[in-house]
Amino acid sequence: MANPGRSFATLLLFFVSCQWCLLLTGGQEDNALSLCQLSSCRSPLVDDGVVYTMCQDRHGLQVWGRCCVNVTDTTHNVTIGLDLSGCNINDEFFKESPLLTLTHLQTLVLDNNPITVLSSEDVAGLTELNYISVPTHSNCSCPGGEEAWSQHIRTVNTTVCVEQTSTCTIYDGSCPATSSHCVEDGPGLFLCLCNEGYYGYKCLRQGTFPMSAFLAGLGSSTVVAAVVLWVLQRRHVKTA
Ligand SMILES: *[C@@H]1O[C@H](CO)[C@@H](O)[C@H](O)[C@H]1NC(C)=O
Ligand SMILES: *[C@@H]1O[C@H](CO)[C@@H](O)[C@H](O)[C@H]1NC(C)=O
Ligand SMILES: *[C@@H]1O[C@H](CO)[C@@H](O)[C@H](O)[C@H]1NC(C)=O
Ligand SMILES: *[C@@H]1O[C@H](CO)[C@@H](O)[C@H](O)[C@H]1NC(C)=O
Repeated sequence: MANPGRSFATLLLFFVSCQWCLLLTGGQEDNALSLCQLSSCRSPLVDDGVVYTMCQDRHGLQVWGRCCVNVTDTTHNVTIGLDLSGCNINDEFFKESPLLTLTHLQTLVLDNNPITVLSSEDVAGLTELNYISVPTHSNCSCPGGEEAWSQHIRTVNTTVCVEQTSTCTIYDGSCPATSSHCVEDGPGLFLCLCNEGYYGYKCLRQGTFPMSAFLAGLGSSTVVAAVVLWVLQRRHVKTA
């Protein structure tokens, strides 16, 4: 469970191991790169697949290995499509949250892989995801459940889930209304963020949390790393 003591301990951990913070933040770009060039894939990107197609004839988009990348702003290339079909990935692949940094991902193709269960945690934070295809066999259906998607198209080997529904609408009222507000966090997931002037467990404390001033003096990489860890930590806390 989330509690202030644990969060504080987490932050303390960062202060004593900041070389690791730097490694963590430096690794984010590389992560997207290695996913686009995953060596376990049997063949190159198929040119009639959805990721290839979404990248075709559109200004500012480029096929890059198994990704479709938005290169409109070349200082900040953004992966918007990822096709990992036939890449021999299994449940183990998701243990280290490899998709966490691909926050602008719109299309994700995972079919033709030995995946048994794809949970909403595996795609947590991917609020822009509007198309995902997964293997139909066994338990692998749309992450977050069927109510997390507007449409699910089930065929023999592949299930396609289209357009995320608004989790905050479905779970309306789950966040304590005066002190917090609901924010979408990917298929079937939401977060309760504290309103201004509230903080702590379930945003029940009033006043200004000293943390913001505390972090400001530490350099941006630490802040980014702390945010990443906070994201990782809350994934275990929030399962809607
Ligand atoms: C690509 O990125 C630019 C901003 O850098 C944005 O305006 C545009 O909508 C993006 N295109 C797609 C297809 O996401
Ligand atoms: C982004 O992509 C363009 C085109 O492929 C490339 O020239 C540029 O170096 C890339 N930028 C970064 C920061 O990787
Ligand atoms: C499917 O999920 C249920 C409950 O989540 C579990 O008991 C069952 O073993 C799963 N079946 C397979 C084939 O993974
Ligand atoms: C489904 O997968 C099986 C086994 O890989 C294959 O033989 C079959 O052709 C596939 N069916 C379709 C409709 O793609």
